[in-house]
Amino acid sequence: MSAKPREAVVILDFGSQYSQLIARRVRELEVYCELIPAQAPIEEIRRLNPLGYILSGGPASVYAPGAPHLPDFVLKSQKPVLGICYGMQLLAYHLGGQVDPGSEREYGPAEIELSDPDNPLFSTFNVQPATLQVWMSHGDRVTRLPDGFRTLAHSPNSPHAAVGDPERGLYGLQFHPEVTHTPQGKALLRAFLYEVCGCHGGWTPGNFIEESLGQIQAQVGAGKVVCGLSGGVDSSVTAALLHRAIGDQLTCIFVNNGLLRQNEPEQVVQTFQQQMHAHLVAVDATEDFLSALAGITDPEAKRKIIGEKFVRIFEAEARRLGQVDFLAQGTLYPDVIESAVPPPPSPPASGGGKGGGLAAKIKTHHNVGGLPEDMQFQLVEPLRYLFKDEVRAVGEALGLPRPMVWRHPFPGPGLAVRVLGEVTWERLETLRAADAILIEELRASGWYDRTAQAFAVLLPVQSVGVMGDFRTYADVIALRAVTTDDFMTADWARLPADLLARVSNRIVNEVPGVNRVVYDISSKPPATIEWE
Ligand code: XMP
Repeated sequence: MSAKPREAVVILDFGSQYSQLIARRVRELEVYCELIPAQAPIEEIRRLNPLGYILSGGPASVYAPGAPHLPDFVLKSQKPVLGICYGMQLLAYHLGGQVDPGSEREYGPAEIELSDPDNPLFSTFNVQPATLQVWMSHGDRVTRLPDGFRTLAHSPNSPHAAVGDPERGLYGLQFHPEVTHTPQGKALLRAFLYEVCGCHGGWTPGNFIEESLGQIQAQVGAGKVVCGLSGGVDSSVTAALLHRAIGDQLTCIFVNNGLLRQNEPEQVVQTFQQQMHAHLVAVDATEDFLSALAGITDPEAKRKIIGEKFVRIFEAEARRLGQVDFLAQGTLYPDVIESAVPPPPSPPASGGGKGGGLAAKIKTHHNVGGLPEDMQFQLVEPLRYLFKDEVRAVGEALGLPRPMVWRHPFPGPGLAVRVLGEVTWERLETLRAADAILIEELRASGWYDRTAQAFAVLLPVQSVGVMGDFRTYADVIALRAVTTDDFMTADWARLPADLLARVSNRIVNEVPGVNRVVYDISSKPPATIEWE
């Protein structure tokens, strides 16, 4: 099976906090795009043969020393360009226009008036009168347009809020179409992609799967692949995709570290065997992990111990399988963007790579931990260009069960970072019981799907209580539930009081050794989502 050439758009990243959001919006519009640093070499762009470019915003000022500039190839390509905020200023500056500091920063909602409602960017809107709500966030602004450009929209503060040279397909927006505060922003991006760049769309989970199966087969050939399975959505989708592509050449390794939630090890194994019928090696290493964690209270020390243990066990199991050539992992696009990990080498034309190749490079934050230098695998990372919501859509299209696909994220070090202080089997069991009650009640009330992550934490303090006629001195459970899109910032979930009351009541009654439950009402920042 050969991968179809796919249409793509390139987003050049000039450092805006919204750059990833632009990429997500474009993907939501079913057009494949990649977010590429503005200074990236041209080869990075050529491999995509883009139909157009979007220039992101950014914190710089075009005249500032060291400010990132528009690479020559963008305008030389004669492809359509949409500059957003700083991207618009760059476009104007490079084409001979003038950019000046605004008298004051413009930040927040604004209303713009369309001067050219028939322009392709706006022609699909049906706005009466011809005004749009937009989100502004800029200091500098374009004060003189380059030749060939005209103003397409203006506001009292931004005389050139949208500009364009329709003959050349060059456009600039002073505002941010990618944020939800610009309600028509997505329609505007759609117009640019479909009307101006001539995209046809079709970047759908089904097409991704078809394309990716071919790529995996081409990369792996007859080689053997191992995949660390955690039960989370990323590793499950990776495994399912691999299994569909190469069947029995895949072996999954699931390490039960004793730090998983109630019934989780059984569920992972069961779901996996029922759904995929793939080779699965399940290892119970509970004792091993718990003895290594005995007496350890420092969170980073816990993470390190767990990471190293995992590596050793994974390595031993993988060696037992004989010659293994590839390691599959569920690296996602945000990991790639944030850690700027270079893409793996191009797949060989045919046949499987045998050993050698590049040493596995794995983020320590990732569930898989890190692997020793002397283990030489080539990486297979079928999800490395996907966002989390796309991974979920692929999971659903692959027929994975909903609870697996929509599971909240769970940290690699597991409950060890939710049992604050020393990790013992008894304390883990207390936490597991409390956590299971929280999750059960969230599911029953429909709140599980309305929170991005929710869990219980066992605090390292005891507090006084009274039960019947007895004074108690027992454990405290903290409940944490957050809403967030990206996990970089988060807000505490406004769970209904009666739901919290039910959870609290059940925990103190059903979990031995707990007499108090508190609810965490901190946002991130300044707090983090996990407590350790
Ligand atoms: P924080 O606590 O940093 O968490 O706000 C953000 C997201 O990352 C997860 N997290 C981890 N995931 N290994 C992981 O695989 C870790 O050590 C780790 N620490 C935090 C956390 O659950 C949340 O989703």
